[in-house]
Amino acid sequence: MTNPNLLSVADLGADGIEEVLRVTDSFVEVSARAIPRVPALRGRTVVSLFYECSTRTRLSFETAARRLSADTMNFTITTSSTTKGESLRDTVETIDAMGIDAVVVRHSAAGVPWQIAGWTEASVINAGDGWHEHPTQALLDCYTIRRHRKTLEGLRIVVVGDVKHSRVARSGVLAFTALGAEVTLVAPRTLLPPSTEGWPVEVSHDLDAVLPKADVVYLLRLQNERMSEALIPTLREYTSGYGLTRRRAALLQDDALVMHPGPINRGVEVAAEVTDLPRSVITQQVANGVAVRMAVLYLLLAGGAASESGEPALA
Ligand code: CP
Repeated sequence: MTNPNLLSVADLGADGIEEVLRVTDSFVEVSARAIPRVPALRGRTVVSLFYECSTRTRLSFETAARRLSADTMNFTITTSSTTKGESLRDTVETIDAMGIDAVVVRHSAAGVPWQIAGWTEASVINAGDGWHEHPTQALLDCYTIRRHRKTLEGLRIVVVGDVKHSRVARSGVLAFTALGAEVTLVAPRTLLPPSTEGWPVEVSHDLDAVLPKADVVYLLRLQNERMSEALIPTLREYTSGYGLTRRRAALLQDDALVMHPGPINRGVEVAAEVTDLPRSVITQQVANGVAVRMAVLYLLLAGGAASESGEPALA
């Protein structure tokens, strides 16, 4: 990686994404060992600075850091001096003064990782900023698709649901299209951004029409926590128009994949039984997330790009 931070998928471009995916292969192998640990980041310190809730991203970054033998520091809002009014900047500068090498940050406000990058020399990794971006989710999604298909080039990826509030969709569109996929967004008008001008996507409101040609169906949760008004009539009507029901799953090609970043609202954007089908790779996305995040931490902190073969030097 040429950039000291990972703030946006745009920091990587197609070559940078390919580099992360190549290095991830090595960390999938490490993760499968009886003792899944290498000394690559011994002596380095990685801080989790999560101002928003998380299960997958937080735990997988912490697991990734430990598997690389880095020290970890975990910041929890409810037990921190944020509750006494300490500002974001003072919090970052305080943690920075303890000696850190990377900050993994999630915040409800778009742009916070960029602000933090101005306050610390440590590498900053965006683990989700508001509706804006979630780059490592996009990387693990690309990796998961590549485990099933040799390439994303020419694949038809259908992203369904609450695109408007989705940082996953924004990073996903950047990464999928950088690797040559064609993306179609499917949502009611109220769950699309006011304009998709400049987005390299098609837009549809008819899920039944696009499913038969899809190679990947990527489902998004309704992000109620980001909605200040009613954007759908009822959950039942939303599911009826945009949920991946059992009937709709039967419209898919035999080898089409079903993906979801989690957390899932079963029975809303996807039927519970559809998540159990062999075509559903949702738990594989989670498992790959650890190795992808090991690759990101390694490339940012271990002092150099991977070799031509993509093999990091791991003892
Ligand atoms: N996909 C994702 O970001 O999940 P978490 O909110 O649990 O981290």
